[in-house]
Amino acid sequence: MRILLLGSGGRENALAWKLSASPRCEKLFIAPGNAGTARFGTNLDISLSDFDKIRKACLAEKIDMVIVGPEEPLVKGITDYLLSSKGLENLHVIGPGREGAQLEGSKAFAKSFMIRHGIPTAAYREFTIDNYAEGVEYLQQHDLPIVLKADGLAAGKGVVICENHLEAIAEFELMIQRAKFGEAGKKVVVEQFLKGIEISVFVLTDGKNYVILPEAKDYKRVGEADTGPNTGGMGAVSPVPFADTTLLQKIEEKVIRPTVEGLRKDGLEYRGFIFFGFMISDGEPYMIEYNCRMGDPETEVVMPRLKNDLVELLESAASQQLDKVKIETDPRTACTVVAVSGGYPGEYKKGYEITGLDEINPADSIVFHMGTTLKEGKVVTSGGRVLCVTSWGLSVFDAVEISKEEMQKISFRDMYYRQDIGFEFS
Ligand code: AMP
Ligand code: GLY
Repeated sequence: MRILLLGSGGRENALAWKLSASPRCEKLFIAPGNAGTARFGTNLDISLSDFDKIRKACLAEKIDMVIVGPEEPLVKGITDYLLSSKGLENLHVIGPGREGAQLEGSKAFAKSFMIRHGIPTAAYREFTIDNYAEGVEYLQQHDLPIVLKADGLAAGKGVVICENHLEAIAEFELMIQRAKFGEAGKKVVVEQFLKGIEISVFVLTDGKNYVILPEAKDYKRVGEADTGPNTGGMGAVSPVPFADTTLLQKIEEKVIRPTVEGLRKDGLEYRGFIFFGFMISDGEPYMIEYNCRMGDPETEVVMPRLKNDLVELLESAASQQLDKVKIETDPRTACTVVAVSGGYPGEYKKGYEITGLDEINPADSIVFHMGTTLKEGKVVTSGGRVLCVTSWGLSVFDAVEISKEEMQKISFRDMYYRQDIGFEFS
């Protein structure tokens, strides 16, 4: 297989690592990639918004399979675009078409999909400028806290949890009247607040069948003990200690199976990953969100626990033969700790040299690059989340301790990482 992987983060570095380990991977390209992905394939300097250049690269490099890492090109329709391009009739694309990607691209679409297919989720209503006054009235009588969600993609920032009615109405006005989250945020989903503990489950589907990958939990807040602003993710663990067989069975029966059947019933072509974000309340799973891709940094703990050949797995998804596949997982725990640029998720500087990357002990740990680039032969920082160290261990505590120890060998200016990933399981 000649493979083109789209994206430039830690998720793509973990996927590139896993893909390149397969004897079925003849040649791997990553567009645009980062300094870490260059260790496992050839980076192509292509922006993900330049669909035409991606199409040309597929033709020039005789690509058999494209794997789309992030959501944005999926929501914009990269899959449909490539599959309808002349000369790419035999191409396989891992990632749903524009319609299927609406599961992530529109919160209102996802909620109505869940309700239509009987999938447990928080009660909700949707509002736009057309029923604005009704929305304000609805908010005034709503139980607290109130969850407001911008409908479209908002780079993970479109969810606001309001502790009082005044704040909720002000936020509602900002979203609808003042387009706080742009055009796509002018439709707002108002949702009941769910109390509980979060967990993410990842599925690969071929549109008919599915396989369940190892579950994970990520740590979104920048500060110790889950304090401070939200980030893209400061660390992750897999497996999640409280996710026992009973819970995972409930998740499969009540959510995963009805979702895949729902896609089929609704005529939504889907060959790719689905990321299910759950709130577990009193032992019952409630869907919070779908993503039409793998998570980041969750992929950096899921891939290290997956024993199957990833290329074979994706070929089975492409040919709708996932019913013949059995997922095998490493029983050890994998944890990842993310190192970020000082100031992130606020303002931060880039371009600092990263040292110590070659000193990591490969027996227990692996470094995945997130925001790095090569400059004059040196690896330098180029993003907020810079890199993560994933380690295998016998427990969450064990794996996190190894990652932290290895992390001490790495250094860049104003580097910061959380010391307490997995704290509730230690
Ligand atoms: P989302 O972008 O939908 O994943 O939401 C981001 C985060 O907001 C989730 O990971 C939860 O922590 C929180 N959240 C979203 N919806 C709810 C809800 N209905 N109740 C409680 N927390 C929520
Ligand atoms: N870590 C959360 C996400 O990838 O959306």
